[in-house]
This record gives sequence, structure tokens and C-alpha cells, in this order.
Amino acid sequence: MGWFPCSGRSHKSKAKVMKKKKNLELQESPLDRIKPSSENLKISSSLASKEASKIGGSNHISESAQIFTFRELAAATRNFRAECFLGEGGFGRVYKGRLEATDQVVAIKQLDRNGLQGNREFLVEVLMLSLLHHPNLVNLIGYCADGDQRLLVYEYMPLGSLEDHLHDILPGKKQLDWNTRMKIAAGAAKGLEYLHNQADPPVIYRDLKCSNILLGEGYYPKLSDFGLAKLGPVGDNTHVSTRVMGTYGYCAPEYARTGQLTVKSDVYSFGVVLLEIITGRRAIDSSKPQGEQNLVTWARPLFKDRTKIWQMADPLLQGQYPPRGLYQVLAIGAMCVQEQPHLRPAIADVVTALTYLASQKHDPDKQRDQSSRQSPCSPQVKGRAKKLNRKVDLREIE
Ligand SMILES: Nc1ncnc2c1ncn2[C@@H]1O[C@H](COP(=O)(O)OP(=O)(O)OP(=O)(O)O)[C@@H](O)[C@H]1O
Ligand SMILES: [Mg+2]
Repeated sequence: MGWFPCSGRSHKSKAKVMKKKKNLELQESPLDRIKPSSENLKISSSLASKEASKIGGSNHISESAQIFTFRELAAATRNFRAECFLGEGGFGRVYKGRLEATDQVVAIKQLDRNGLQGNREFLVEVLMLSLLHHPNLVNLIGYCADGDQRLLVYEYMPLGSLEDHLHDILPGKKQLDWNTRMKIAAGAAKGLEYLHNQADPPVIYRDLKCSNILLGEGYYPKLSDFGLAKLGPVGDNTHVSTRVMGTYGYCAPEYARTGQLTVKSDVYSFGVVLLEIITGRRAIDSSKPQGEQNLVTWARPLFKDRTKIWQMADPLLQGQYPPRGLYQVLAIGAMCVQEQPHLRPAIADVVTALTYLASQKHDPDKQRDQSSRQSPCSPQVKGRAKKLNRKVDLREIE
């Protein structure tokens, strides 16, 4: 998946195309508008904008991000050795490394110097992550801006990205069970809620997708990649106008059409991620038959036909999910991907609903026990489906 100012692209063409398609609007430093008094924000806006012009020098950007020399990071990755390579995205390659000074294991992202917009994106990423701190956002340890080198140093997330577990599953890898999927969905929603409701002014993430949800020990999810983030509207404004950027398949339709960005654009992307988590399908999958290639287009008619929603569960779950829970999560997903942005829920309501659902642990052994006593079409099962066959109101499950 990649970023697009005007069109989508195939998954395989990854880095090369993405480099060309990156763009950020930094004519006005977005950080000028962040209130320095907020307790979450660790550096002052004036410092941020001053420091923005200093990038490339050796000045401190924030109180929390450390500055590394290129030599230190080359040593940490044993000269960017192939065995340390973790993956590659639009910004460049990512390596696992160990910092010599502290022995800390880290992930080091090296900007591909042929990229067109990478430097601006680097700056936004450093400044945003220096200002924003939450358990569900990846922690930026530091950066390197020696000469024309641009590297970002993050906490290492041992379980990789959600995409690796949902779509790019290596043979022998454990499948994500229902409880883990719910935990990841609720945690990712909390990270987004922090950006929308606790950051002041709100931050619109703009790049929510499975490859940007990284997983720590116990599948603890953290949002990563803030190079596209924008500060949200302030005062009476309802939206910010930007050039359309994002990833094909995740981008809200009204934003793609008009370039008017609101927090509800992120809620749409979150809905797409939620559908991927439940169905195991990709947001866009050109290997599927026509009509099934776009996840939202495929899912919409199924939402309306309640006898068919069971078809939406990821086959890899092998039927191991709570029927009521599946119905409720799909209802949340359906609300998030509505065409009209004002009909989408606020992310705070999504957090409340998903936190509740994640707390309802599903016990597959109990389910196996019950289903061995009931045929799939038994009256009990039909009755249960009928009971679920009504509109789910988020307030009901608070
Ligand atoms: N902090 C980290 N810890 C562990 N692995 C990471 C970390 N950050 C990135 N990775 C891995 O590196 C790979 C590339 O990540 P990157 O964010 O550069 O690309 P992407 O998310 O696939 O694409 P995009 O550039 O569109 O965000 C991913 O497979 C991801 O799993
Ligand atoms: Mg990424």
C-alpha cells in the first residue's frame, strides 16, 4: 500500500512509486499552531518553528528526541547489514539495530535520498512525535540529520506490523485470534482518540492503515508514521484544505474528492482497518474478482443483509468468534465507513465500544462445547441470529 496524491498503485510497486508520490504542505509550519501550554506537548511552538529551520544542523529539536551521528547508527546496524533489514516503505529502508551507548534495541528508518519530499516528511515526523506522547503511539527515540543523511530511530516493535499478521502471513506463524484482534482494534482507536481529542489543536493522522499499526509484546498496538499528519481545524473552521494525500483504499471519499480534511477522514480509514481486522481482506486487492477488490464496496451490501454478515468473518478465524461480538464490530465498521462524514461516529465513541468488546474475552473451548451440541442451523443458532438482527446502537454497549 502506498501514498497517492492522485491515484492508487499496486502493493508490489512499493517504495519506488511512493517516493515520487509523497508530499507535504509545510509552507506554514504546522507546529506554529500547537499550544505550548498543553501538558502533552513537550516543546514550545516557537522552539519547534525555530528548530524546523535548523534541521540539518546539530541543534536539539525537542527535549525528548536524542540526536545521533550517522556513525553511531551505522554501528548500531553493523553498517546497515542485510540481516538487520526489517522492511521498506515510502520513506526508505528500516533496520533493526542496537545502540552501543545504551544497548537498547531500536528500529532505524533511513530516508532514501532520491526521494522528493522526504526531508519535509522527516521534519514533520520528528516534530510531531516529539510533541505527541501516548502509550498507543510509537516512541521516537531520536534522529540523525548529519549532512544529507536523514534517519529516524524508533523503539523496536518486536511483532512487526498488523499487516504482517493479517495479510503477509509467513508459513508457521500463529493466526491472530479473536481476542487479539479486538485488543489491537481498541488500542489503535485509543491512539487515534489521543490525536483527535487530547492533542490541542487536534492532529489528523491521514495515514491510518494496517502497515502503520505496529505491534509490541503481547500484540500491544502503536500507531506509527506521522509524516503526513496535519493539525486539525481551529476556531469555527470545520476542516483544513490540503492536497489529497493518503493510501488508496483507506482515503475517505469526500477528502479524495475535495481535499477538505476533517477528523472524520481518519474515522473512515479506521473503519477500513477494522474491516480488514474482521474479514482478513485487504483494503484493495486486485487479485480478487471484480466487485470484491475494494473492501468497502464489497462489504456495504453485506452490512444490509443480516443473514450474510457471517460470511464476512475471516476464514482464518475458523468460526472461533462470538457471534454477537462479530455483529457489533461490523456495525461499528459500517458506521465508520459511511459516505457522509457527519454520520460517522466520533472516535471517542468507537473507543468506548471497542474497549467494551475487547474486555469480553471469547473462550473458543466454550464455543466448541456449545457448537458440538448445536448444528449450525439449529433453532438455537437461528434464534440467536435473529436476536442480533437489529440495529446496534453504540450507546447500548457502553
Ligand atoms: N519501530 C519499528 N519496529 C519494528 N519494525 C518496524 C518499525 N517501524 C517499521 N517497521 C517495519 O519496517 C517495514 C517498513 O515500514 P515503513 O513504515 O517504512 O513502511 P510501510 O508502513 O510499509 O509503508 P509507508 O511508507 O506507506 O508507511 C514494515 O514492515 C514494518 O513492519
Ligand atoms: Mg509505515
